[in-house]
Amino acid sequence: MSLPIRIGVVTVSDRASQGVYEDRGGPAIREYLNEVLTSPFDVVARVISDDQPVIEQTLRELALTERCCLVITTGGTGPAFRDVTPEATLAVCEKEMPGFGELMRQVSLQKVPTAILSRQTAGICGQALIVNLPGQPRAIRECLDAVFPAIPYCIVLLNGPFLTTDECRLVAFRPKK
Ligand code: MTE
Repeated sequence: MSLPIRIGVVTVSDRASQGVYEDRGGPAIREYLNEVLTSPFDVVARVISDDQPVIEQTLRELALTERCCLVITTGGTGPAFRDVTPEATLAVCEKEMPGFGELMRQVSLQKVPTAILSRQTAGICGQALIVNLPGQPRAIRECLDAVFPAIPYCIVLLNGPFLTTDECRLVAFRPKK
């Protein structure tokens, strides 16, 4: 029997991690995954502060120890002093996957001019794909709709599990044999 598919969901926010406000980003990512994926999967969720060592440790734990094939972060991608999610992501990744950030910014710019302020990126840590999303809950759907079609094939190329999607909702890109 194959191992269950595990997906990491990381909310990076000083205020959400301190309980100053409720985490809305993590639940929005989970809701999106439930909507598009038909493969059964388990979510491994974390809500952490904007501290680079904490973010790095969490990403490594989810990718390497928890064996998540995909880790999605939300928050900490902007220009503010405490925004360091892209730096932490690149610090733990062997490869950057710049196309994810490029495409998400391109589609986001059609919706909000402030999309230029997100430095969101993606990369490969071990066998996991890590993808950054901005912290705005509405950005989650906008960004994931753009890049999610590429995610199942990317995970196949990392020798990970075969993720299936509800094709009425989202058709995954698969190369012709
Ligand atoms: N992208 C989309 N699709 N929708 C949004 O509302 N907000 C922007 C941007 N990208 C946004 C977006 C804003 S206001 C900022 S400051 C940056 O993401 C960085 O956000 P973060 O620091 O919360 O990650």
